[in-house]
Amino acid sequence: METAMNFQEQALFKESIQQGIPSVLPQAKPYPADANRAPKRKDILNSDEKQLALRNALRYFPKEWHQELAAEFAQELKDFGRIYMYRFKPSYHMKARSIADYPAKCQQAAAIMLMVENNLDPAVAQHPQELITYGGNGAVFQNWAQYLLSMKYLSEMESDQTLHLYSGHPMGLFPSSTEAPRVVVTNGMMIPNYSRPDDWEKFNALGVTQYGQMTAGSFMYIGPQGIVHGTTITVMNAFRKVLNKGESSKGKIFLTAGLGGMSGAQPKAGNIANCITVCAEVNANAATKRHQQGWVDELIDNMDELVARVKEAQAAEEVVSIAYIGNIVDVWERFFENEVFIHLGSDQTSLHNPWSGGYYPVDISYEESNRLIREEPEVFKVKVQETLRRHADAVNKHTARGTYFFDYGNAFLLEASRAGGDVMAENGIDFKYPSYVQDILGPMCFDYGFGPFRWVCASGKSEDLDKTDAIAASVLEKIMQESPEEIQQQMQDNITWIKDAKQNNLVVGSQARILYADAQGRMEIAKAFNDAINSGEIGPVVLGRDHHDVSGTDSPYRETSNIYDGSRFTADMAIHNVIGDSFRGATWVSIHNGGGVGWGEVTNGGFGMLLDGTADAERKLKSMLLFDVNNGIARRSWARNSEANFAIKREMARTPKLKVTLANLVDDDILNNLSL
Ligand SMILES: NC(=O)c1ccc[n+]([C@@H]2O[C@H](COP(=O)([O-])OP(=O)(O)OC[C@H]3O[C@@H](n4cnc5c(N)ncnc54)[C@H](O)[C@@H]3O)[C@@H](O)[C@H]2O)c1
Repeated sequence: METAMNFQEQALFKESIQQGIPSVLPQAKPYPADANRAPKRKDILNSDEKQLALRNALRYFPKEWHQELAAEFAQELKDFGRIYMYRFKPSYHMKARSIADYPAKCQQAAAIMLMVENNLDPAVAQHPQELITYGGNGAVFQNWAQYLLSMKYLSEMESDQTLHLYSGHPMGLFPSSTEAPRVVVTNGMMIPNYSRPDDWEKFNALGVTQYGQMTAGSFMYIGPQGIVHGTTITVMNAFRKVLNKGESSKGKIFLTAGLGGMSGAQPKAGNIANCITVCAEVNANAATKRHQQGWVDELIDNMDELVARVKEAQAAEEVVSIAYIGNIVDVWERFFENEVFIHLGSDQTSLHNPWSGGYYPVDISYEESNRLIREEPEVFKVKVQETLRRHADAVNKHTARGTYFFDYGNAFLLEASRAGGDVMAENGIDFKYPSYVQDILGPMCFDYGFGPFRWVCASGKSEDLDKTDAIAASVLEKIMQESPEEIQQQMQDNITWIKDAKQNNLVVGSQARILYADAQGRMEIAKAFNDAINSGEIGPVVLGRDHHDVSGTDSPYRETSNIYDGSRFTADMAIHNVIGDSFRGATWVSIHNGGGVGWGEVTNGGFGMLLDGTADAERKLKSMLLFDVNNGIARRSWARNSEANFAIKREMARTPKLKVTLANLVDDDILNNLSL
């Protein structure tokens, strides 16, 4: 019976995909009552522009539907600030199926469909009805018509055609070649002068651009596993900076805030890094949810109790994560009074979005804050700024006692400085505290080429994932035997991670895995996967990576914040990366505006690549991965980063056809003696 049902569902699924926009107008339908809806967007269009937005939306549909759809879309625009075309959301279950289940003429297209669906799976996506995968506005497509048309094109695509996606809109299938990418994705590419946040509001409402975040609009999001791994690597390396060699992180405190979409990874990462994590969260529901889901061990809502519990954990050198329901500023202040020593401090509240609920003021209840946001936004802004100043003062008192504080990519230092907080260095230009990329990920990982290499087992089988874990571990162990001292620690951390990966239970949606590896590691793991596919040991594998990486992203306050030659405000590296990957064998490439830190603040890109066990796949993976990593190392080395200089020279010794321009270093004395 079940098989018959599955068969029927499968047939319906294939038919719907091949149909694209249905030939009969589907019934209008209400949003499900329990849907986690995207926030209502700004009502930014004037009435002429609203008409233009409707004209734009209706061009996807036959004329005879326009009367009915125009009224409905106008209502969506009014209610939500956007036209999602919810009526056209397909009725089949959205999830990553096995690659064999997709109606496709080439496997590469089927692999892309699988990844698209994974990014819209309700178990994975934040606001699936609005096609938002994560980060509140990280979109896969702008509307359901774009989804339907794109999937149809993918089902028709042959291996000498390329689908060009303009911010979710499928411009069409164009003849190309088997060497070309099957899909080229651009998201939010603007003429530079039109990249202010309100430009996103306006042009997204018009239906002509979208914010693809990093991995949402590039179909490479794999759930919380990526952020848990990144945070684990960051916390472990931060401890190495503050502890003596060989000293354990057990019983040492990592204090931070936020248990939201990404920040909820912190306690789990703290546990893997063997410390005591204290994470403050003002939203009791968010804290309770994370506790129930097993992301954090204990929940405390009373400050006296928190102090007592933390002292006990310190004395017993426990590994434990504690969520404190309350404001982070109270914790910093009270730990100072009670002389609780914090080894590591950071913050992951949503300060990229400070005025509408990303950061809550102290001494005001959560409910009252939400009322102020709605009814007295100017008062709320003042309260947030007061809190940021207090927050900075409390952090400063602890760092004077020896706490190591770092900004974890959430714009804490930027907003604290804008609020007049005491966070500036003596030169008045830099911040007092480093960002995690400046101090940790940049010099310890990115400059050596270590970054977030990920893969998805396209068969959908968990046994395949287990086999790839084992293959990756044995490849890394073999490479490590001959690795130089400089990268031994990174190799070991990732070998430990991959060996424990299954027991950390982080798979949500597709059978995906992540680890950090350098160019050699990525290439050798990929080749070993391709060999295993060829011998029939495992099914096909999709390779990819986060955009938060060595080469793909130019982001002056994050990924490229440790570039000090003035070029961190340029975006040449990210553009070269996407172009370079596209003619070296990527199955799809993507380039976005604003991923991670906000519209206009970053240019970020990535790729996807299907390994199918063929000799062609081996040739492509070697060519593309070598460039994908070393493009960034070359740029980092030219910026005079010594770790990158070491790494690129090593790569040139290994790869005779690679010839990179190296920087000559001028002595400081020569420059200091000039009167400039
Ligand atoms: N470093 C990285 O690799 C990385 C990756 C992703 C996101 N980020 C950044 O991290 C931030 C958090 O992202 P998210 O998706 O988890 O956001 P989110 O909005 O889902 O979660 C933030 C949480 O902080 C809580 N909060 C706000 N003010 C607080 C306060 N004063 N005290 C205690 N709790 C408070 C909120 O209630 C919320 O639950 C964002 O700014 C994001 O850009 C960094």
